[in-house]
Amino acid sequence: MKVKKSLALGMAACMGMQLLCACSRQRTDKIEKVQMGVTCYDQSDTFISSVIDSLKEQLGQYQNEGVTATVTVMDAAGLQRTQNDQIEELISSGCNVLCVNLVDRTDPSEIIDLARKNNVPIIFFNREPVAEDMLQWSELYYVGAYAEQSGVLQGELAAEAIKADNGIDRNRDGKIQYVVLEGEPGHQDAIIRTETAVNTLKENGILLEKLSYGIANWSRAQAQNRMTQMIGQHGDKIELVLGNNDDMVLGAIDTYEKLNFTKASWPVFFGIDGTDVGLEAVLDGRLAGTVYNDKEGQAGAMVKLAVALVIGEGMDEIEFEDDRYIYLPYRKVTSGNAGEFLAE
Ligand code: GAL
Ligand code: CA
Repeated sequence: MKVKKSLALGMAACMGMQLLCACSRQRTDKIEKVQMGVTCYDQSDTFISSVIDSLKEQLGQYQNEGVTATVTVMDAAGLQRTQNDQIEELISSGCNVLCVNLVDRTDPSEIIDLARKNNVPIIFFNREPVAEDMLQWSELYYVGAYAEQSGVLQGELAAEAIKADNGIDRNRDGKIQYVVLEGEPGHQDAIIRTETAVNTLKENGILLEKLSYGIANWSRAQAQNRMTQMIGQHGDKIELVLGNNDDMVLGAIDTYEKLNFTKASWPVFFGIDGTDVGLEAVLDGRLAGTVYNDKEGQAGAMVKLAVALVIGEGMDEIEFEDDRYIYLPYRKVTSGNAGEFLAE
């Protein structure tokens, strides 16, 4: 009972605050305090945790022009239900802008309702809601990257490597025997990356033979298991491993190391993300190449947009696609430039 009452009081106070915010947003005075609430689908995801680190850092640098900023980060640990509750908590604690990395990108309705009721804008990131859901309310934004481009660049990197080194076709049959490690089914970056990478290789004249694929949900540990199974089936016939992200190809490399394959019978590996561990693997030659998923650019766009939404200034300086989307470009990474990305 007591709990309920204090919750109700808290909610009332918080709604009061939101009303104040709403009013002052319409007036010309600035709201100087940006209170950002962030929830991510799984903070143990290497790429996501690096986006969050960059976001905190860049928000910290925003303490100029009289803006003070705080950020609260929550981990939904793979449960949409948990994430919905976190949104309620973040709003109750006074957050005036939300950054949401959906667990289930097809299920944002409850979150959108909560945010709309309290007039707190949402910046979705990395896991793109479907277009109809983005139309549910005018204060919804998305920051991410072009999935297709990442696949095209990965395919180009692999094609360039195969053309430059005829030793990659180890059995000299004129075809490249390959396997793919795929991210979560239903994620905008999984199927599209695979399709566009494979098509790009074909468009570049590379003859391919698909031996197998394994779904490893972006995870290094799951990829180790999938790779063990695929090696069990195909032995040393695998010449190329394409991964939808770096962590999964690193898991595949772990397996080759564990099974003591001689370097001469290793396939070549290509990832996507350019996480610190991925870049290090490119530099030490275990990974032939990766595609940089611009975590600093994405985090920076989120911070800039969040600040503009709260203080009501600077929106006109932001370039959107279709009014509410911001996509950062990917870039190719090889041993020649990996060091520069590591320094970013
Ligand atoms: C992708 C990224 C993956 C994983 C996933 C999570 O863009 O490449 O490594 O972080 O997002 O949604
Ligand atoms: Ca071959």
